[in-house]
This record gives sequence, C-alpha cells and structure tokens, in this order.
Amino acid sequence: MAAFYAIQFHENRLVLLDQRKLPVTTAYFECKTLAEVIFAIKDMVVRGAPAIGATAAYGMYIGALELGDELDLQKLYDVKAILDASRPTAVNLMWATSRIMEKIASIHSSSVNEILKVIKSEADAIFNEDAASCKAMAVFGNTLVDQNDQILTHCNTGALATVAYGTALGVIREAHETGKSIHVFADETRPRLQGARLTAWELVTEGIPATLIPDNAAASLIRDGKINKIFVGADRIARNGDTANKIGTFMLSVIAKRYNVPFYVVAPSTTFDLDIKSGEAIEIELRDAREVTHVGEEQVAPNGIHVYNPAFDVTPNEFITAIVTEKGILYPPFTQSILDKLIEE
Ligand code: MRU
Repeated sequence: MAAFYAIQFHENRLVLLDQRKLPVTTAYFECKTLAEVIFAIKDMVVRGAPAIGATAAYGMYIGALELGDELDLQKLYDVKAILDASRPTAVNLMWATSRIMEKIASIHSSSVNEILKVIKSEADAIFNEDAASCKAMAVFGNTLVDQNDQILTHCNTGALATVAYGTALGVIREAHETGKSIHVFADETRPRLQGARLTAWELVTEGIPATLIPDNAAASLIRDGKINKIFVGADRIARNGDTANKIGTFMLSVIAKRYNVPFYVVAPSTTFDLDIKSGEAIEIELRDAREVTHVGEEQVAPNGIHVYNPAFDVTPNEFITAIVTEKGILYPPFTQSILDKLIEE
C-alpha cells in the first residue's frame, strides 16, 4: 500500500495531494467550495479517472452543503452538470455523480439533512469501493506478470490516480510486493509529464526498479526486446473494449501488436461506459495550447503556431490483449466478455 493518499475528506473539506507540485514539493490543496473542487479537477490538482470520480463524489457533497436550505433535486442536478463538464473523457466522473443522483432520487425525501447524509455516505462508499477494486485488480493482474518481466507503462495510474494502490501501477506494485523481480519503463508522458513527475515518484518511493524514458524511446525498446509487457490504465472503455487512455497509448498498442508484446489495460468496472457501443462515441478532451508551447514557465514554441493538444486517444479493441478488472480478466472478443463479466453478473 502506498504511504500517502491523493484524496482525503474530513470536517467537510476535501484535501487533495497537489499533483501539480510533485515530485519536488509535497503540498495539499483544500477544497471547501464547489468552485474549488471544479478548479482542482480542471487544473489537474487531482487527475486519473478513478481519483476524479471520488473527488466528484465529494464535490457533490460540498455543492449540496453550499446550497444549505435551498437544496433540492433540481439544484443538485445543476451541481452534477457543472462537475460533469469539468473534464469530459474520464467516465468515472459522470458515473460517480449519476450514482449519487440515483440514490437521492430513490429515497424520495425532501429533508435537507437526510439528503446530505445520503450523499456523504454514497461518496464514502465510492471512495472505499475504489480502494478495494484496485487491490482486486492488482491481484488478478499479477497473475499476468512473470519473474524478470520488463514492463512498460504510460501516464500515471498509481495511488495518485485512484483512491489507493492504482490500476496498471497497482499491478506493478503487487508484483513487486509479492517478490517478483521486475523492471519498469515509465514513459515521461508529454505534455503534462505524469510519467516523469508522478509515476517515477511513486516507483522511486516504493523502491521498484525503474527507468524513465522519453515517450519516443518506447518503439525501439519494444523492437529490441527490452520490453516484454505493457500495462496501461483507462479513462473510458466502450462496450466493445475500445479504450480511451492518455494520448500516446494507441501508438504503443500498435507497436506492441507488431512485435507480439502483450498489451494489457487495467481498469475498474466504473471506467466502462456500457451506454456506448464503440470508442467513436468517446469525447476526447482538448487541452490548453500552453501545455505544448511551454515547459513550465519556459516558452519552447514560437508565438502564432497552431497547436493540437488532445489529452487522450482511443485504442481499438483489436490491439488489446486483455482487460484486467476487479471482477476478473476479460479476453477478446470483448463485447462477449464484458457482457458475461460486467453486465450479466
Ligand atoms: O489527464 P490525466 O492525468 O487525468 O490522465 C490519466 C490517465 O490517462 C490514466 O491512464 C487513466 O486515468 C487511468 S488512471 C488509473
């Protein structure tokens, strides 16, 4: 288990480990208002699909507290709508706010105190269930890891991206904790550098042997047999297994297939969007040009250049070897395995 929590909630305050400041500074960002929660999600104080989901759940509670005596179902739907718009791709966000709204609608109560109690207890449940899911995925995923594996991972999918433990990085953590000798290659993950700033920090903190590489070094390492497995996370998975994840994931999956390297996605059932048939329906977040034209405060591109900065891409299901969930490992054809494990169970 990691020695820190990205998200904590006490005394009506959401306390987030400020991921913009890592790895140099460990600082916390407190949210006491809905506006602060929305800022934290948009500005990536907190990021990673499951972590965004848990944050949004407490955001619903903070938004409800702010409404005070004016709290009613319609106003709560407005809170949900603002939260849902803060980042569009990670479905865990809308999943968490929808779950809370469904629960409130089911109790048929107009008592402010009762509604607040229900929102808080549902947010706590979402938080606790994510930690348990991560551990279950780690145990399933670890069955895919062998002694001396050289594992590539992209972006940050660790304890920082979830309530605890992580998804793809959770599998890596579990493999290390159970005594497997593995080596991890972490893509730096331009332009926000989640791999360099966050994954490398988690790996160093846990003493897991690892090497940080520029994103564009992965292809030749795969071709040369230096990487024999790839584990990534997901922000949204369609009914057919098409998977949205951090920009650059698709490219890795194509190279992996060319060189017969297994490509595994690790994601909880809360990351599946069973309302969409394929990845074509996934909205890809476009982020600020400044993330590309600048590195920190330094400008690295000329004024006037056009920038295209998608935060995610979609990996078609044909490039995915298996998807590890908390309910088990899904294999192709994914439309069938998703139906069997996630819908019919
Ligand atoms: O833009 P981010 O940092 O929120 O993107 C995060 C990712 O793409 C992760 O791989 C994904 O959310 C899975 S995290 C457990």
